[in-house]
Amino acid sequence: MGNGIAHVFGMNKIPVHLVEMNESLGKKALNTISMNLDRMVKKEKISAGQKEQTIENISLYTDVKKAVADVDLVVEAVPENIDLKKKIFTQVDEAAPDNAILASNTSSISITKLAASTERPRQFIGMHFFNPVPVMKLVEVVKGFKTSDETYESVKNTAQKLGKTPVPVQDYPGFVSNRVLMPMINEAISCVHEGVATPENVDSVMKLGMAHPMGPLRLADFIGLDVCLDIMNVLYEGFKDPKYRPSPLLVNMVNAGKLGNKTGEGFYKYD
Ligand code: CAA
Repeated sequence: MGNGIAHVFGMNKIPVHLVEMNESLGKKALNTISMNLDRMVKKEKISAGQKEQTIENISLYTDVKKAVADVDLVVEAVPENIDLKKKIFTQVDEAAPDNAILASNTSSISITKLAASTERPRQFIGMHFFNPVPVMKLVEVVKGFKTSDETYESVKNTAQKLGKTPVPVQDYPGFVSNRVLMPMINEAISCVHEGVATPENVDSVMKLGMAHPMGPLRLADFIGLDVCLDIMNVLYEGFKDPKYRPSPLLVNMVNAGKLGNKTGEGFYKYD
């Protein structure tokens, strides 16, 4: 999601330091942003000049500490691995200016736990974007136990500057988005597992009957089945309630490496 986040900041005239692990990944991210901007130019949502300006607003970095040395806000979007996120936040906390706000785009890891890996839990917050970031209007703004009102107000204003609608939520497993979305996806997977209907038919029911833009299984592939499983596990462990038990079919598909769009196969096949 990092490239989508950089895209919307850059497009709204906010200079971005985009950090990737190496130069080639950085160029790949910029290429994805450029292609997504091209589709916006083609649809006449932005001009070719705005596209160029957006790209100019994004500078690539491979060194986290250099990238954050003079910024006001850091938005972390590395994979959903708590140890990795904590390691990165420790580095960011050391190098970022004292007044900078640190935000995580985590979809389910506790903001309070991540904040505790820094010396600035009052300036730590969740800024949860949704895919595709340039299109989806929501930013779920997650307040950790120690997040200050000033930090919340600042992040709320930034989200509004990006043309998004910030919605405040407290830091409990899955926040609101994934506490509601993931059990629905998990139940759709159980319908396939139990032979109630095929993936196509489960998706047709939800698209045609409930006006969802994508069926839950197509959406699971889009999000990544590994991410869906991680989130179900966070809900299951966080609430200690069997209603959040991940479907065994979901577990098997992840074990088999069928992760959805990113591996070319999940509930559907992708070119
Ligand atoms: N960048 C810029 N624009 C994009 C884009 C991208 N990456 N992807 C799609 N678009 C734009 C298209 O240009 C198009 O614009 P217009 O309406 O102006 O024509 C619009 O989005 C719709 O795209 P398409 O016509 O290509 O396809 P579609 O109508 O099937 O819509 C979709 C695609 C927007 C993805 C739609 O299917 C949808 O809303 N799906 C649900 C997405 C969703 O639920 N996301 C949340 C996932 S959960 C998550 O992200 C967080 C988590 O914690 C797990």
